[in-house]
Amino acid sequence: MPYKITRRKFLEQSGRSAVIGGTLLTGSTTSASAGANAKVTLGYIGCGNRRKRLIPAFLQLPDVQIAVVCDVHHKRAQIAGEIVERNGGGKPEICGDYRRILDRQDIDAIVIATPEHWKCLPTIHACQAGKDVYVEKPLARTIGEGQIMIKAARKYDRIVMIGTQQRNMLCYHDAVKYIHSGKLGKISAVRAWNFENHAPQGYGNHPDQEPPPELDWNMWLGPAPQAPYNPCRYYGFHFYWDYGGGWQADWGVHMYDIIHWAMKTDTPLSAAASGGKYVTKDRVELPDTFEVVFEYPGFISLYSFRFGNSRLFEGMGYGNAFYGDNGTLVINRDGWRVIPEPTGKLDSQGKMIMRTEAVSGPGSPRAPEHQGKFIEAVKAHKKPEMADVEMGHRSTIPGHLANISYRVGRKVYWDAEKEVFKNDPQANKLIMPDTYRRPWMLEV
Ligand SMILES: NC(=O)c1ccc[n+]([C@@H]2O[C@H](COP(=O)([O-])OP(=O)(O)OC[C@H]3O[C@@H](n4cnc5c(N)ncnc54)[C@H](O)[C@@H]3O)[C@@H](O)[C@H]2O)c1
Repeated sequence: MPYKITRRKFLEQSGRSAVIGGTLLTGSTTSASAGANAKVTLGYIGCGNRRKRLIPAFLQLPDVQIAVVCDVHHKRAQIAGEIVERNGGGKPEICGDYRRILDRQDIDAIVIATPEHWKCLPTIHACQAGKDVYVEKPLARTIGEGQIMIKAARKYDRIVMIGTQQRNMLCYHDAVKYIHSGKLGKISAVRAWNFENHAPQGYGNHPDQEPPPELDWNMWLGPAPQAPYNPCRYYGFHFYWDYGGGWQADWGVHMYDIIHWAMKTDTPLSAAASGGKYVTKDRVELPDTFEVVFEYPGFISLYSFRFGNSRLFEGMGYGNAFYGDNGTLVINRDGWRVIPEPTGKLDSQGKMIMRTEAVSGPGSPRAPEHQGKFIEAVKAHKKPEMADVEMGHRSTIPGHLANISYRVGRKVYWDAEKEVFKNDPQANKLIMPDTYRRPWMLEV
């Protein structure tokens, strides 16, 4: 697909001055690489909930500094600045427009922890400005944006890595190794789930209102359609079509990622989703109850989401299960275990002979391994082995397929090689809906 993305052009078309914060936005690409021994200097964009883990994680690494924190919510940016200081990172610059970060020559890479409608543009602009990118999962709000992000990373030769940190957690490495050993036998079904209870209030029923003075609401909306400020939109963005895609396209990414890794395939063949907003009495748009069946070559994958009942499944509120004819492996970040299948035969003591052994492994502490791998990749200017932008794109796609199936009201069939739906113009339109609000634009 031919994409042409020019940051200079969108600045010109928007009538914006090319000078922001007193510095010239050149739009030019450099191929800077931090180098093996140098400190990596980061700019951090989107200082909401995720800041609590991500900023300390990056600053735990010996050779990282955060020079700028940016949020369209001024107070949140200030709080992030304080977190940087408390973690021994000095006093970062605070700003509200991420393009300021791109202008600074000393910034090697940016970290993006914004809502989904604000993942693609900063990634592209950073690549064009010669900066590497760590972008939180899900990679993008739409499949088409993910495709463009890959294109930008390759075109400008930048490292772009997604925040699917389970890829660098020991418990997932151990469990995936066990699955790859073949001891579970033929795996015919896998599962992933998120069960929580936020009934009935959900994100609340606030009326539309003036945004708080510390928030630049127009900039928060950015490329999304014009809409009045509402706390539900701001805090519950995941559950609005214009900014997110529900847990099936958000939390789900972590779990689809593990399924792809363990099952050695990232090519769903189809998705059939059902759901509804049955229990939460709030203003958000997406279903509070959602089920999807994906077909993959040789197995099916089921994802379940409830926002109105937190009953654990396999003892876990979220997780993955792999069903083989010798046993079942269940896992989340707190640990993993194998539950063997019976053979139906008894041993000499009358005990059931099992098809495999019951084994288990501990969980992994929350540690900055994943962020460390990003810093290594930046220094070496080498694609990370795990969670490169393309892998992130593939792990984000199932959630999009599920939502597109839900929106068109039927099962959809995916050509994973061409990244189009088979014989389905209606579904194909949703790969890259043309909804960018001017002056923000992707030139495709
Ligand atoms: N990897 C993980 O385990 C993990 C965990 C939590 C969240 N996340 C991801 O991190 C992202 C952020 O989630 P969150 O829970 O922190 O959301 P949040 O709403 O709490 O934070 C997002 C922040 O981005 C700011 N923002 C919006 N547009 C901006 C822009 N153009 N420039 C600068 N700031 C902007 C908002 O004001 C807000 O403070 C989401 O994609 C989410 O899925 C990942």
